[in-house]
Parts: sequence; C-alpha cells; structure tokens
Amino acid sequence: MTKPVILTGIRANQDLTLGNYFGAILPIIDMAKKRSDEYQINMFIPDLHSFTTPIDHSTLNKQIFDNARLFAAAGLPLENDNIHLYRQSYIPAHSELTIILNCFTGFGEMSRMTQFKEKRTTIGEDRTSVGLFDYPVLMASDILLYNAKYVPVGDDQTQHLEFARDIAERMNKKFDTELFVVPEAVKAQHEFFGKDQGLRVKDLIDPTKKMSKSDESGRGVIFLSDAPEVAYKKVMGATTDDKANIQFDRTNQPGISNLLEILSLLQGLTLQEAIDKYQGQERYGDFKAVVAEEVKSFLTDFQNNLANVDSDIITAKLEKSERELAPIANETLLRVQQAVGLRPRL
Ligand code: TRP
Repeated sequence: MTKPVILTGIRANQDLTLGNYFGAILPIIDMAKKRSDEYQINMFIPDLHSFTTPIDHSTLNKQIFDNARLFAAAGLPLENDNIHLYRQSYIPAHSELTIILNCFTGFGEMSRMTQFKEKRTTIGEDRTSVGLFDYPVLMASDILLYNAKYVPVGDDQTQHLEFARDIAERMNKKFDTELFVVPEAVKAQHEFFGKDQGLRVKDLIDPTKKMSKSDESGRGVIFLSDAPEVAYKKVMGATTDDKANIQFDRTNQPGISNLLEILSLLQGLTLQEAIDKYQGQERYGDFKAVVAEEVKSFLTDFQNNLANVDSDIITAKLEKSERELAPIANETLLRVQQAVGLRPRL
C-alpha cells in the first residue's frame, strides 16, 4: 500500500442535477478509473460534515446510502480494489484526530474561513454550530489520516485544502517532520487533475446562470430524480432566442449554446462534433425535441440503473473499504497521539 493517495469527499446530497452529474460526478468517476492503477483512490461520504448546518435527521441515514448507490449507478467500479468507498463516521479516527488538531488551530484562522463567514450570515448566529466552525479541521483530518497527496476539490474548497496543508506543516514543524504527508498545493493539484472543468451546464430558463439545485422554481433545472416526461417538457420550455439559426455563441445565443452542450454530453460527442452536426439549422422546435428526447432516455436509463443497484453489494463495498482503511487511519492517529504525548513512544 505505498501507492500515492488521491482522496476526495463526496457530499451526501439529494436532488442532484444534470449539471452535478456531468460537472462533478462523472469527472470524479472517470478520474478514479483512469488513475486507479497507479494511485490508491479514496472516495468517502463525509457524513459527519453533513449536519454542520441543520438538516432533517430522519432522512440522513438513507441519504448516505443513496449517495453510495448513486455513484454505483453512475458507473463507479465497485469491484476495483484500488478504489475505496467508505463512510467518514465509520472510521472513528476522523473524529479523534479532529479533537487533537483543534488544539493547534487558531480561533482567528477558523473565523476567517470564507465558507464559515458566508454560512454564518445566511443561517444566523443562533443556528451557526461549533461543528460548522470546525468544518475545516475535520476536513483536514479526512485528508491527513490517509497521507493523501492529491485532493480534487471545487474552487469553494480550496481555502480548506490550504488549511489542511498549513496544519500539516505546523504539526510537522512542532513535533516531527514525518508526522503528516503534506498534500500538494492547489496549483499543483490543478496541474495534476487538469483544468477540464469547463463543463457548466446552465439553467434552461436563465441560461446565463449555472443549473443549480437551489434554484427556487426548478423550472430550468433537470433533477436526476425528475420523471423523464417532466424533464422532456422542461427542455421543450427552454429559453432560446429569435435568431432561428443554431450557432454556438454563449454571449448572443446562450440558450441554444447550452442545449448544444447538453446534447454533446448526452450523445458522447465533443462539443465541436455537436456543433458541426446542428449548426445552421433553423427550426428550434425540432432541435429541442432531439435534446428533450436524449434527456428523457438518459434519465430513464439512469433511474433504471439506480433502481437496480444491489444494496448488498454497496454494503459489502463500504464495509470492505472501511475494514481496509481503518488501520491506515489508526496508524496516523497513533503517530499523532505519540507525538503529543497521549501514547508512549515505543
Ligand atoms: N467539503 C467538501 C465539499 O463540500 C467535502 C469534503 C469533506 C472533502 N472532507 C473532504 C473533500 C476531504 C475533499 C477532502 O465538497
């Protein structure tokens, strides 16, 4: 087990959109498949992070499991032994390391975290938990326990990743230069994973903004859970323009451009291939019907896959990964416990 480690936490969300699917889920799965020969891939569900802001706890347990199912339905190869899939809270070392790292983390540096500041403002002082404040420390523990080198995260998480590096370096300096593997800097991460994140499916009604699950009306959003017929209608109702001429032009024809992009993703074409195939056509209705039909059949297949995911296989995978990875996490934890004096050095 000396392969370098790629690690990422996949948020336990329901209501994922077509945008999440093509912009986040598929790229992670492709990456895992592509890199799994040379790297150990750790993918986990950050269940302890999931209620740092208030949630409905009656559905959490199901959601955690559904999240794993969703990745399986989207093609994560569960039989690949180099790709691990586990639940954060099933490996107690995450919590224990967090408690220790808390004591080396500044109140000030956590207060300055952008995500904390933003959420604190939106949810209000009384609902802002200490758990939310501590979010980055738990995230650092997630990463450092497994000696991870590469951590693909969205832009909204880069500050947290920087913190993981900071605390690792701080501890190494204070106690032992070999205590933690310091993950690569954000720039090196981007170089490693490539910046092919141009994929940003846009809202169907307002194609100048990103398709987002938190949109109020949901009319321009395709959810993975939408009935295929409903999704068909949403595409037919997409905003276009009055040029009656299909061209890929994000500025002047954002709606049509978005549909071209969606179509290319669904048909497995490059964007250029999709453009070549449809540009110049004048009948938007016909074009929309093509896209709508693709969306509909994609959702039908996907929902079918999801329904057919074998829960026993998921459970077996989670438990296997947890069994295999707990010793690695515990080894790191013991190193830290020894360094700070909680355990004798042997
Ligand atoms: N905070 C990450 C997100 O919201 C999820 C996450 C938790 C994570 N722990 C992590 C990602 C460790 C990478 C590494 O997307």
